[in-house]
Amino acid sequence: MINRTFTMIKPDATLKGHTGAILKIINDAGFRIIAMKMTHLSKIKAAQFYEVHKERPFYKELVEFMSRGPITAAILEKENAVEEFRKLIGATNPAQADEGTIRKLFATSVGENAIHGSDSDDNARIESDFFFSKLEQF
Ligand code: CMP
Repeated sequence: MINRTFTMIKPDATLKGHTGAILKIINDAGFRIIAMKMTHLSKIKAAQFYEVHKERPFYKELVEFMSRGPITAAILEKENAVEEFRKLIGATNPAQADEGTIRKLFATSVGENAIHGSDSDDNARIESDFFFSKLEQF
C-alpha cells in the first residue's frame, strides 16, 4: 500500500554539509518527496516535537541537539513507506546500523544520528502535521 512517512535531516548532518547526499539516497531509493522545508527549531519547538520522550534521561540533550542548527523536514511517499524508510536509515544507534544505511554513512552516535524516520503511520501523520499545513502537503 502506498503510504507516507515523515523525516528530518538533523542538525549534525546539516552542519557537516550532508543534506544533498542524503536527499539523493532518499530519491534513489524511490521515495517521492511530497513536502519539504529547511528550518531551525527553537528549543520550545524541539521540546514539543519530542514531547513523547520527555521522561527519558536523554530528553534535555535531545532538545539541545535538535535546536543546535538547521534541519530539513520532509514528507515522503512510497509503498510501505514507514517500514521501507526505517530500513533505509538503519538502527537508531549507528554502531548497530547495517552497511549502506544513512545512519551508518553519516551518523556519529545514538544521539547525533543524522536523520529521523517515523515509527508508525499514526506518528507519520502527527509529525507531518507538526511541520506542514495541509496546503503544503502535495
Ligand atoms: P529518533 O529515533 O529520530 O527520535 C528519538 C531520538 O532520541 C533518537 O532519534 C535519538 O536522536 C535520540 N536518542 C535515542 N536514544 C538515545 C540515547 N540513549 N541517548 C541520547 N539520545 C538518544
